[in-house]
Amino acid sequence: MADKQHMQAPSPAVIRRADYRAPDWLVPQIALDFSLDPAVTRVRAIMTVVRNGDHQRPIKLDGDALVPLVVKVDGVERNQDGWTLQAGALVIDLPGDRHEIETLVEICPKSNTQLMGLYASDGLLCTQCEAEGFRRITFFPDRPDILSRYSVRMEADRKDCPVLLTNGDPVASGDLEGGRHWVKWTDPYPKPCYLFAMVAGNLQVNTDTFTTMSGRKVSLGIWVREEDLPRTGHAMTALKNSMAWDEKTYGREYDLDVFNIVAVSDFNFGAMENKGLNIFNSRYILADPETATDADYDAVEGVVAHEYFHNWSGNRVTCRDWFQLSLKEGFTVFRDQQFSADMGSAAVKRIEDVRVLRAAQFPEDGGPLAHPVRPESYMEISNFYTATIYNKGAELIRMMALMLGPERFRKGADLYFDRHDGQAVTCEDFVRAMEDGGGIDLSQFRLWYEQAGTPRVKALLSHDVTTGQATLSLEQNIPPTPGQTNKKPVTIPLRVALFDSTTGTHQGDELLMLTQEKQQFDFNGFPAPPVLSINRGFSAPVIVDTNRSQKDLAFLSAHDDDPFARYEAMQQLMVNVLMASIAGGAADATPIIEAIRRTLSDTGLDDAFIADTVTLPSESYLGDQMNIVDPQSIHAVREKLRAKIARRLEKEWRDVHSRTSANSFSLSPAAKGARRLRNTALAYINAADSADAAKLAFTQFKQADNMTEQHGALSVLANGSSSERIAALDIFYNRYRDNALVLDKWFQTQALATRNDTVEQVMELAAHRDFTLANPNRARALYGAFAANQFGFHHHSGKGYTLLADAIIALDRLNPQTAARLVPPLGRWRRFGEQRGAAMRAELQRILAAPGLSKDVTEQVSKSLG
Ligand code: TRP
Ligand code: ZN
Repeated sequence: MADKQHMQAPSPAVIRRADYRAPDWLVPQIALDFSLDPAVTRVRAIMTVVRNGDHQRPIKLDGDALVPLVVKVDGVERNQDGWTLQAGALVIDLPGDRHEIETLVEICPKSNTQLMGLYASDGLLCTQCEAEGFRRITFFPDRPDILSRYSVRMEADRKDCPVLLTNGDPVASGDLEGGRHWVKWTDPYPKPCYLFAMVAGNLQVNTDTFTTMSGRKVSLGIWVREEDLPRTGHAMTALKNSMAWDEKTYGREYDLDVFNIVAVSDFNFGAMENKGLNIFNSRYILADPETATDADYDAVEGVVAHEYFHNWSGNRVTCRDWFQLSLKEGFTVFRDQQFSADMGSAAVKRIEDVRVLRAAQFPEDGGPLAHPVRPESYMEISNFYTATIYNKGAELIRMMALMLGPERFRKGADLYFDRHDGQAVTCEDFVRAMEDGGGIDLSQFRLWYEQAGTPRVKALLSHDVTTGQATLSLEQNIPPTPGQTNKKPVTIPLRVALFDSTTGTHQGDELLMLTQEKQQFDFNGFPAPPVLSINRGFSAPVIVDTNRSQKDLAFLSAHDDDPFARYEAMQQLMVNVLMASIAGGAADATPIIEAIRRTLSDTGLDDAFIADTVTLPSESYLGDQMNIVDPQSIHAVREKLRAKIARRLEKEWRDVHSRTSANSFSLSPAAKGARRLRNTALAYINAADSADAAKLAFTQFKQADNMTEQHGALSVLANGSSSERIAALDIFYNRYRDNALVLDKWFQTQALATRNDTVEQVMELAAHRDFTLANPNRARALYGAFAANQFGFHHHSGKGYTLLADAIIALDRLNPQTAARLVPPLGRWRRFGEQRGAAMRAELQRILAAPGLSKDVTEQVSKSLG
């Protein structure tokens, strides 16, 4: 007999987009009956199944770790000869074209550590089905193009689970013997099984109502643990604002009588858009001034909106198969970005969005895990909930919206929703609706969905004094990515303006369409050389290389009327100086210092924008600008420049810090901006290293009446080595040890610190009694943050790599999905030079050799090794 321990695990099967086939059987109806118990939950399913097309194939009902206790066809029980189990799936031969299948299974929620399917969290029972979790609850053809009407009966212990929720509207309820009770709900909208959800537990509710544009009164409920009830107000406001916004902006109305949200502590992702019953990671619901930063508040608003918007972009119109994931995610991210821009400062929101794209998606697109927005293949779909699908996908929608203009974009969106309501469709269907509804030819634009890799655009501006003509030469190039060596030129919409350097003005913004590899654009009427402002508003998700001088950039940083371009000019100014000093050349910091001085005193700018603009590019962004990343010199050079800026402008930083202290707590954009700038100033003051700097931070830490300032000060102290550092960390821990979300910040802040001993600190924190791998938020707060800390993680000893690899191996046994998300930082080994690269590779190989490794981690690690 073969010894299982020593057999090489077979590599997981590859699923290909090209292999898509319409389903053999449809399931128009399903009735589910849950007898809930954390240890043994019985699930009975009765499905109407209908043969789809002319074939004799059996029905295949996916299952993951399920055993059929009963299988009935048309009411008649089938014995074990009447079905087979194939790779977990229940396969049944059926004679006719329409049958009723009944199955019964037992599952154990309390031992479900993967958090997929039905699981227990904090005494609550809840589900997560996207992408393929429904097959862990019952046998079912688990693919998004099977849409069914659900009716669900649930029964549970009345004391432990007074609240029983599922999709749709409640229709009946009653009591049972033995202290149990039951409810029945029906969902009138046919839906794919990934949108099924159920929650049972002891929850309290914040209720409200919303009247839709056609006068339907919707009951809204946000369900949380009793002690969290006071922290649900912001989420409720965000929900009502989202509902109103989608009506106004897209004409989309909510379609059920109830809309419920449940917050849970153990969750693999941000939140889930289950029809009528969104389930959230509690970090995206709970907020109050004492425990949530302004960034947390914004994240709550953005995620509540995102999940709500899925009701149309995802639920009413869903995905045909998982290769089309960006159909719902890219579009919905775009929609939540638009919403947040409308709720606060559009300029600051755009800068944030681009920062996220550059920090998460550009590295992905340039590494071994690069994939197109519409991938061609996968092993484990959970690995494709990526920044490429979400954030680059959103940029594609944004480019279409830009090329069409608001009215024609709305026509395209209307046509998309009307044409495909109730269907499971493809990215191609979306693009075609934009073409038909908006009146545009997107043939070449489609390449954006097919080709991975971030396009680079070289933009050279020349000028002829005699003719007064300026010529912009553009050249695009898309680097090769795994499996795609030769790329075709794509459509790149670039917003540009040419500034007159004497007046500081321009003749208007123009949208240039770069469609060929090389193209030239002429502009007339410039007696003197103009200054180029390009990719304004970040009109295309590309990297632009220009021949602009430091003087031009300084000029734009003071005059550009496009906020993103102005921010970008300042960032580029900083990048140039930092790169020059890393290369060992002489770098003049004066233009930066003068630009910051000017920005700080520009009364026309809002504080949040100022804070964004005066902050140096992150260490990892600087790393992305280098062929081989040198984390130590990046850190050293950046800290040196930070100290110089701090000292030369010390008075200004102190003025800003005290000016912004008069800010009484409010969530207005102005108040949030002031807090952000105050934290930025505090960090600079500490970089100057004056005797009283740490004390100033400690005072802010102690006196703050809100988490933004408290946490800003804590971060500053955690990065240093003052005596106040330990004191602040201890106070913070003792104050918030019972609040899991705030305790996450305590772990995260230390993991993000750029100290020489951060690796050791992280090791100690991993052994802390409040640390657990079982909770994804906690695991990410420590290891996710640490892996994103370029200086700490890439410590020359290689200890950071070992630490992360150990965590991945341990976490994989509990929660493969979350473990797999920690792999990409190690996968960047090609970028870190020979010595670090070898150490990173060795850790990847060690992970791959771990016995019983999941499909999730296997895919990410083997692709990373290349
Ligand atoms: N559809 C969810 C969203 O973006 C994503 C999601 C929630 C998810 N839970 C998940 C993805 C679990 C994979 C696994 O809104
Ligand atoms: Zn989503």
